[in-house]
Amino acid sequence: MKIPNNPFIGTNYIGFKEKINVLKVLNSKSLFRYHGPKLLFMTDKLENMLKKYLNVKYVLACTNGASALKLSCIAYGIGNGDEVIMSPFTFIASASSVLACGAIPKFVDIDETMNIDPKKIEEAITKKTKAIMCIHMQGQCCDMNPILNIAKKHNLIIIEDTAQAFGSEYDNKKSGIIGNIGAFSLQAGKTITCGEGGFIATNDYEAYQKAKDFHDNGGHRIGCDYPTWTNGGTSYGENYKMTELQSAVAVAQLSKISKIINRQNKLFEYFENYFKNINFYTMRPNLSTNKNINVSICLKFKTDVECNDFIKFMHENGIPFNKYCTKLINSYDVFKKKQGPHKSNYPFNLTDVQYSESDCPRAIELINQTAWFNLSSQLKCKHVKYIISKMEDFRVERQ
Ligand SMILES: Cc1ncc(COP(=O)(O)O)c(C=O)c1O
Repeated sequence: MKIPNNPFIGTNYIGFKEKINVLKVLNSKSLFRYHGPKLLFMTDKLENMLKKYLNVKYVLACTNGASALKLSCIAYGIGNGDEVIMSPFTFIASASSVLACGAIPKFVDIDETMNIDPKKIEEAITKKTKAIMCIHMQGQCCDMNPILNIAKKHNLIIIEDTAQAFGSEYDNKKSGIIGNIGAFSLQAGKTITCGEGGFIATNDYEAYQKAKDFHDNGGHRIGCDYPTWTNGGTSYGENYKMTELQSAVAVAQLSKISKIINRQNKLFEYFENYFKNINFYTMRPNLSTNKNINVSICLKFKTDVECNDFIKFMHENGIPFNKYCTKLINSYDVFKKKQGPHKSNYPFNLTDVQYSESDCPRAIELINQTAWFNLSSQLKCKHVKYIISKMEDFRVERQ
């Protein structure tokens, strides 16, 4: 049986609404969010819908999740050798967005939840620490309450990297609005998508305004007007503006988010019910505070060998369980060799932080002992039944 292995959750829901919205924008000949002959204000609409969905005061749409992370740092003046604490079990963009601001990632180990271990954060704090980046991996929130307490005690900013967890909740609050600022991605593999795209969410007006000006080439726009263009009041900034076409797709996708999340969680429930009744497989633990958007199944084995055997067995039966990754990002050349893009080696020339893969030993163990399966929204009942039957075969053979 061919098992769907398509991790592109939102992409699978592209349909009539997306097409109509895109056509409307094309017909309006107004693709730029601030001007056009018949501007439809799709990007404004998207931001307003997101504010309502997240229950947050300010949302700014931007080009992608990485730029949303960079804008989050910019919003709080993080740069020039400042340290940002984060886990190395993530996609490289979490760290490179920090480097792009001239700040320095400082890696802290994870725990069984596969997210940053709150107990290890305090020992990594130095005089240079400015922020903690909480990366909610694979639809599941970090344990925010202890992290919020640490941030308060040490006067640190919390940036939430919500790229992989849009729609998840912690303590009845949507992830991304729990700390000071949240960065989200609308890339093709995420809960909802417009191919590439992202946004920030915050309740802090000053932070929002700073990010907004920066994302608009440093100009201060009032509504659609851009007075700085004529009066020269522009500060340093770059261009991270969302296009109306991207927003047209994202608006349609956002109207489907509850349906998407419910389906993911229903799929997960089938597997959870199976795992509940046997004591052979160990699932990624979930916190009682969390409501996830379940994008994958993660199983933890006692040894690397057992994990590899399981993956091999599943592959022999056409089921794509895999390691999430083989390397943590702190072992990538950029950190191993402390290699900046400029000959001055900026921003690594601003720090004496050293990087070694062995800094996060639990993360290494966990990436070697966990097998992951994408919960494709194309999975059907027959697939779930087949996968569970093969898991049962493996268990019977081993137990
Ligand atoms: C954890 C995490 N952070 C940031 C990003 C960057 O998002 P984007 O690809 O939209 O730039 C990703 C993308 O996969 C991600 O998984």
